[in-house]
Amino acid sequence: MKDKVVLAYSGGLDTSVAIKWIGERYKMNVIAMSIDMGAEKDYEGIRKKALKVGAYKALVVDAKEHFINDYVFPALQADAIYEGQYTLATALARPLIAKIMVEVALKEKATAVAHGCTGKGNDQVRFDVTVLALAPQLDVIAPAREWGFTREQTIEYAQRYGIPVPVTVKSPYSVDENLWGKSIECGILEDPWAEPPEEVFTWTKSPQKAPNKPQYVEIGFAQGIPVSMDGTIMGGVELVEKLNAIAGEHGVGRIDHLENRLVGIKSREIYEAPAATVLLAAHIALEQMTLSKDQIRLKMRIAQDYADLIYNGLWFSAMHDDLRAYVKSTQTHVDGEVRVKLLKGKATVVGRKSPKSLYSYHLATYDKEDKFDQSHAVGFIQIFGLPVKIQAQVQKRLNTSLRKISRGEFV
Ligand code: ARG
Repeated sequence: MKDKVVLAYSGGLDTSVAIKWIGERYKMNVIAMSIDMGAEKDYEGIRKKALKVGAYKALVVDAKEHFINDYVFPALQADAIYEGQYTLATALARPLIAKIMVEVALKEKATAVAHGCTGKGNDQVRFDVTVLALAPQLDVIAPAREWGFTREQTIEYAQRYGIPVPVTVKSPYSVDENLWGKSIECGILEDPWAEPPEEVFTWTKSPQKAPNKPQYVEIGFAQGIPVSMDGTIMGGVELVEKLNAIAGEHGVGRIDHLENRLVGIKSREIYEAPAATVLLAAHIALEQMTLSKDQIRLKMRIAQDYADLIYNGLWFSAMHDDLRAYVKSTQTHVDGEVRVKLLKGKATVVGRKSPKSLYSYHLATYDKEDKFDQSHAVGFIQIFGLPVKIQAQVQKRLNTSLRKISRGEFV
């Protein structure tokens, strides 16, 4: 009986060739596993293709709920955005794919897992580190990192073994999609000066062609989790799917990022993330209303570390457990609704309300309902400004123009 390996199978050229290649090179039986995280693909067709190409077994797992509830929404609660731009769709999906591969491998008594990543990207790190964290006894096989094929050689190999080469292989772009967003790289995008051609965008209308009339959406949150849209309670998967369509129609969520990969390379990636863009803006707006100033300040710093951790493939780590516990605690009162205006590529928060709001009209207003006692400001300022006053007196901290005046010079 041959050893078994569980391969994360996308149905594309590389992982199809990988099925054959692993069989040849490692003499193992390949269990092809495809995971539905919301990419619009024909998963039954993909399963059949795996078997046709020579897989010993082929499975499809629907992980949409798991992905949104246990990976995407925790990242949303953390406001995790990598380098201020990338909303992390691909990075969030990898640990989940690897976790499911490990589970299947243990169930099937396989000795290894395999993936189609090359040796230049972040995704190999995310897969491999997850396996190291969850089941270090399993080997990891990464054909595209090992075989040293050029694109042409991969196609040649496929043709030699009768593996269908999809027409889409002609597209110069490398694309990865799930519910939280679409990542696009390669082709002309490798020239950072070149404007992304319109053809790379399939989720979002060009802002130029988007409707001239704005559309408003109201997102309801409970403890930092989106639970309703326009007053209708809905599950996370449905909400994200619907919002992707609505915001995409208004050209919202196009991101052009020249990012720093973990492996040291700078790379240019285009993203489409309509729902992510709207939900992150709305969530941050609601936190501004329901968290204290100090909570917001610390949380903004944690958000960066959280994004780095996700990007760097450290989802399954003690560090993440710690940050997760902190973020969860901050979300206790993040309840309420946020109104977002979608217009010509922009999502603008225009309204927010919360039963836990820390905003007080009576304190903020300049009208007659003002309840703020302005006389208290005087004593407060004397004490707040005391260190500055003492230091100025003792150390003569004067700015240049004042120094000139005190020397009788004309300024
Ligand atoms: N740069 C993104 C990341 O590291 C996406 C990687 C996959 N991109 C792709 N176009 N296949 O998370």
